[in-house]
Amino acid sequence: MPVREILQIGHPTLADRALEVDVDVIQSPEVQGWIDDMIDTMRDANGAGIAANQIGIPYRLYCVEVGDNPRYPYKPPIPLTILINPSLKFLSDNTFEANEGCLSVPNIRGTVTRHLEIMVSGYDREGQYQSFDVRGYSAGTWQHEHDHLDGILFPHRVTDPRSFCSWSAFSEFHQAEFAERVRRLVDKWGA
Ligand code: NI
Repeated sequence: MPVREILQIGHPTLADRALEVDVDVIQSPEVQGWIDDMIDTMRDANGAGIAANQIGIPYRLYCVEVGDNPRYPYKPPIPLTILINPSLKFLSDNTFEANEGCLSVPNIRGTVTRHLEIMVSGYDREGQYQSFDVRGYSAGTWQHEHDHLDGILFPHRVTDPRSFCSWSAFSEFHQAEFAERVRRLVDKWGA
């Protein structure tokens, strides 16, 4: 399966609300091919997740996976998960400040507010409905990918434009302090 081109901020397919997937066709070769392409493209780019519309497929599905990730060395692991027609619910008002990047937003990072306790639901690639809670720093990853399906990129959620930062400046001046804050969150919440 091919690694696909990742659309960049400003592309209309990233800005539109993505369409529901017909659940009856989840196991079709077409949808399974979309999923394989998302996984291959995410891994090739060292992404922590990718939404279908980032590779030009205007439907509501995304995947997340975090292992040893050179883009985000402080992120706790997340096993490969595919969610189709996902929903996302906040379980509390607890929030944290996340510094995020995006494969569709070249060389810029910024700080956004994310909920700490969420419930995520959706279909997996076998068409089984799944629902689970995510608590802690990792909750931000799911919210970021879910936002893509509604045409929302992280810069739209940045409340302080002074937090915009290049990847190299983040690495040199901010990553150590941020990684320590992430470590405290992971210690407290387990993810
Ligand atoms: Ni993104």
